[in-house]
Amino acid sequence: MSNRQIILVELPKEKLAPTHFRLVEGAVPEPGEGEVLLRVRLISLDAANRAWMQGATYRSAIEAGSVMAGGAIAEVVTSRAPQFAAGDIVFADTGWQDYAVLPSKALSKVPRVEPLTHLLSVYGIAGLTAYFGLLRIGRPQAGETVVVSAAAGSVGSFVGQIGKIKGCRVIGIAGGAAKCDWLVRELGFDAAVDYKAGSVFASLKTAAPNGIDIYFDNVGGDILEACLPMMRIKGRIVCCGAVSAYDRAAPASGPRGIPGLIVVKRLLMQGFIVTDFFSERPEAVAELQRWVEKGQLKIKEDVIEGLENTPSALIGLLAGENLGKRMVRVSQ
Ligand SMILES: NC(=O)c1ccc[n+]([C@@H]2O[C@H](COP(=O)([O-])OP(=O)(O)OC[C@H]3O[C@@H](n4cnc5c(N)ncnc54)[C@H](OP(=O)(O)O)[C@@H]3O)[C@@H](O)[C@H]2O)c1
Repeated sequence: MSNRQIILVELPKEKLAPTHFRLVEGAVPEPGEGEVLLRVRLISLDAANRAWMQGATYRSAIEAGSVMAGGAIAEVVTSRAPQFAAGDIVFADTGWQDYAVLPSKALSKVPRVEPLTHLLSVYGIAGLTAYFGLLRIGRPQAGETVVVSAAAGSVGSFVGQIGKIKGCRVIGIAGGAAKCDWLVRELGFDAAVDYKAGSVFASLKTAAPNGIDIYFDNVGGDILEACLPMMRIKGRIVCCGAVSAYDRAAPASGPRGIPGLIVVKRLLMQGFIVTDFFSERPEAVAELQRWVEKGQLKIKEDVIEGLENTPSALIGLLAGENLGKRMVRVSQ
């Protein structure tokens, strides 16, 4: 039995490329007292994986020469900690490898749902980020207009659907006609704007003639700048992420209109990290489950097979290849 690992051999200076990674093979590690040996089942691919290479965020920066970090669903193989037993399913930052040894306090036990992939999509970080960001910060009221960027991605596709459940008019912003079609036809968005096809501001004027009450911002940059003047008085901007700034050397300068428009329009602009709300996680998962069972929330998963394909799967996600939640299946 051997352990394949994907090492981040060099930090990218510009765009992330396959040459920044190398696959190595070694022995499966042995757990010490209080530790657990995990077999990785599914690795979550997140836009934030790239942001971690730019410097410290809500976690420390990734260093060149280490196993690429990343959250995963894994199965306990051997436990030397009383809280875990062989066969338990956990979520943990195992990194990109077949096996990992971690201290028990670094693991969260999760229920064995079928299919397991839902633990990374609707019941994982993606679904919960959409749920808490929209409901706790955006606070949608029926009849309001919600705009969400990276709308065909994992977080964005749930944000728009939850907005519809709450009775809002929902507009998604995504790259390309196919994604925009999918948002409207499959997910029930009221309109979609292809940000690659022309002026986002002009298209939003048509799609949201009365302005925006809630902008759920996954991308920052030019799209945030286009949404700002469209905000209605007392609108809310949910700052979830800034994917437009991740795959480059350094973040670009900020959008114009801040703080002037924020003041004049009495806007709330608030950032959050999904874990801020984890004390409410059981109730949130239960509500997401009810919506899934009633057919109100559709789940789109984009599963890539094989650990060796993880680097290209992340590079592809940053380029917008994915529809819904992208992940890599490492073992069955
Ligand atoms: N605050 C939190 O706790 C939290 C938790 C999880 C995720 N997030 C954030 O949520 C956002 C979405 O992340 P995710 O992991 O779910 O990824 P994702 O949305 O599934 O995939 C990223 C998407 O971003 C879009 N994109 C890439 N470059 C872009 C650009 N320059 N302008 C506009 N869109 C661009 C691409 O779609 P297109 O084809 O449409 O370009 C791509 O599919 C990220 O900002 C992430 O940091 C925050």
